Amino acid sequence: MLSYILSFTSLLTQYAADFLWFLLQYVPALTSRRQPPTFSNRKGLECVIPLFSSVEETPQQIPTRVKGQIPLWLKGKLLRNGPGKYEFGRHQYNHWFDGAALLHQFTIKNGTVTYQSKFLRSDSFKTNSQNNRIMASEFGTLAMPDPCKSVFGRFMSRFESMDMTDNCNVNYVVYKGDYYVSTETNFMHRVDVETLESQEKVNWEKYVAVNGATAHPHYDPDGTAYNMGNSYGSHGSNYNIIQIPPQKSGPEDTSLQGAKILCTIQPKDRMKPSYYHSFAMSKNYVIFVELPLKMNLWKLMTAKTFGKSFMDAIKWEPQHHTRFHVVNKHTGKIWCTYEGLHDESLRAAGGMEFPQINYARCNGTQYRFFYAAGFTHIVGTSLVKVDTKTKEMKMWKEEGMYPSEPVFVPDPKGTGEDSGVILSVVVTPKHNQGTFLLVLDAEKFTELGRAEVPVQIPYGFHGIFVQQ
Ligand SMILES: [Fe+2]
Repeated sequence: MLSYILSFTSLLTQYAADFLWFLLQYVPALTSRRQPPTFSNRKGLECVIPLFSSVEETPQQIPTRVKGQIPLWLKGKLLRNGPGKYEFGRHQYNHWFDGAALLHQFTIKNGTVTYQSKFLRSDSFKTNSQNNRIMASEFGTLAMPDPCKSVFGRFMSRFESMDMTDNCNVNYVVYKGDYYVSTETNFMHRVDVETLESQEKVNWEKYVAVNGATAHPHYDPDGTAYNMGNSYGSHGSNYNIIQIPPQKSGPEDTSLQGAKILCTIQPKDRMKPSYYHSFAMSKNYVIFVELPLKMNLWKLMTAKTFGKSFMDAIKWEPQHHTRFHVVNKHTGKIWCTYEGLHDESLRAAGGMEFPQINYARCNGTQYRFFYAAGFTHIVGTSLVKVDTKTKEMKMWKEEGMYPSEPVFVPDPKGTGEDSGVILSVVVTPKHNQGTFLLVLDAEKFTELGRAEVPVQIPYGFHGIFVQQ
């Protein structure tokens, strides 16, 4: 009983402290003294602002200029997703993650490459375009009340709940053979990968009791998909592991029908679930790492009232430590939860993002090689290949050029785990130098060829290769 009272008191104290901190942000004398956050001590970095600037879409396929040799066996489409428009009218987004989704397509055939891109016609995009202002809130940007409303109407709109955006600018994902573009809200768009047009806006909430899902699902060899999503209710929050069947049950079955919750995991503090961007999976288990990057639900619920965005409700709170959850994929049972593995020395190993493996061959089993983008700047500055057996690292790098996520495509006649190519879109802030699709020999990690694109491409997030 005593421990219950103590934990209840500590919870109340914590909420009171949070609330006080929250109120203090609105005292001008204090906010003016706040220092801008510092992310790096590195000096002399090149200015990369053009990589985060708006571009025009390229709705018709255009040719690229190929240098070197692109293997003739490489046939298909590299589909990439990322922000491409950062303002509507005079309103600008505050954060890189907020830009309107620009869908890119590189079609590779007979050693040639064509390029095409289209903005996703999401409801957010359409409403913003029609009104020539930002009407839909994003991760780091709160949409301001409509100036056409009365003063009272504008005041009252602060107390309405924040609408979720369908600006799906993070990744391409596959469910039941269909291609979707995804962000981390409850909305996705099913897209035609030939035309890059949206065919359907899909709401996770209609199919399974979650309020969103990550943009990084995992797949079993038969196509069964697994994802994670939070659910919010009067109880606070839960983490849920979702399973989506590999195929459609019939011609009418076109979206997430058949999806089910495999397992529900309670956050340690249900009003402060951890933010997560992805999870891991082996043949039999889902591994979820609950990091001390906390989402304060109280702040999320009141964000609009206080003129704050989602981003303002997320905070690194290392006192909560890191918890590992291992869930059996077949039974949905939690196999173990382990706390206390957080090690300060892990920070020194930072500097890599967008990790990839030979997914078709190695997902869920032991892999030897992984590929990633090395980060000595806010964007990727190199591509790396790491041999986990010998600990040897190979690197591709070109001064002033910024490579995106490396995508591994296996050579159909190859036998090795690393027989194939790495595709990466390389961009530059210099307007007089073109961006290009880079093709590396994945084994030697040397350049085979590149296809220069005569249009500016902003720095994006993720993509997939669709073999044809
Ligand atoms: Fe990601």
